Amino acid sequence: MNFKEFNSKKLDIKSIYHLLISGISPRPIALVGSVDNNGNSNLAPYSFFNAFGANPPIVGFSPALSGRTGLPKDTLLNIRDTKEFTISIINSHMVEQISLSSCEFDKGIDEFIKTGLKKYESKIIKPFGVSDSYFIMECKLYDIIELGGKKASGNLILGEVVNFHVSEEVIDDNNQINPYKFDAIARNGGGWYTDSKKGLFEVKKPKHEGIGFDELPDFILKSNLTGNQLAKLASINKIPAFQIDENKISENETLELIKSSIESNNIEDAWQYVFQLGKLINDK
Ligand SMILES: Cc1cc2nc3c(=O)[nH]c(=O)nc-3n(C[C@H](O)[C@H](O)[C@H](O)COP(=O)(O)O)c2cc1C
Repeated sequence: MNFKEFNSKKLDIKSIYHLLISGISPRPIALVGSVDNNGNSNLAPYSFFNAFGANPPIVGFSPALSGRTGLPKDTLLNIRDTKEFTISIINSHMVEQISLSSCEFDKGIDEFIKTGLKKYESKIIKPFGVSDSYFIMECKLYDIIELGGKKASGNLILGEVVNFHVSEEVIDDNNQINPYKFDAIARNGGGWYTDSKKGLFEVKKPKHEGIGFDELPDFILKSNLTGNQLAKLASINKIPAFQIDENKISENETLELIKSSIESNNIEDAWQYVFQLGKLINDK
């Protein structure tokens, strides 16, 4: 593959920003609720966001200093002052309201009122969550790491989740969250968003240590199987014994049988066809 190269030391900040948000995508979105020292609510979306550990449960997001003025965002100022915040995860039915909440309203303006999003009272901390969300976390400040102190520099805010709220609409009796009902929205580059429920698929994790690509026969590695198909062949823990040695079909047809067995997750069968293909190639 040919790559176009961008040395970050030679790029302007805007281009760096666009590379970051287009390349690191889709990103989850934290809708962050905070309050100032006078108790005024603030709400804003942040997609430089993720979770970083479970013990203690740590989440982080990064309000950048303005690229134009270098001034801090209200969320950062509020959390520096009051050391608490909520994170609500957004769904497809809220996405336009989230976009509205990202407007630069003056400090002290309540974005709940501006966006029509409804307040959900926290149980442990002061800031409100968003009751339209299916998943709200109450967080106490763990640390703020300044990442440059210049225009467009980040400020990594880490928080410990002290309380989770999960809507009964999306969680079952075994406390499993249904990803289709959860309907999370993520942010890509430019004005693009991802509606995760429209692109959901499940990858079964290998139950054991896989044999790996280095154990696959050369003729299979050189075939037109995709990386995903080869990975499924390589995720069994032991190459099975050759059982069927009768074969009246061509190499191409055998290769198609390998593919269809892999696609239907019959990896043991796929391996039998791999042996048959090897035999056909050897007997030529
Ligand atoms: C989906 C989305 C994600 C965003 N992610 C970030 C981010 O990670 N960091 C950031 O500094 N601004 C981000 N923004 C822009 C802020 O939301 C925007 O500057 C907002 O006005 C900040 O509000 P505040 O001053 O009340 O904190 C994002 C905007 C949108 C719509």
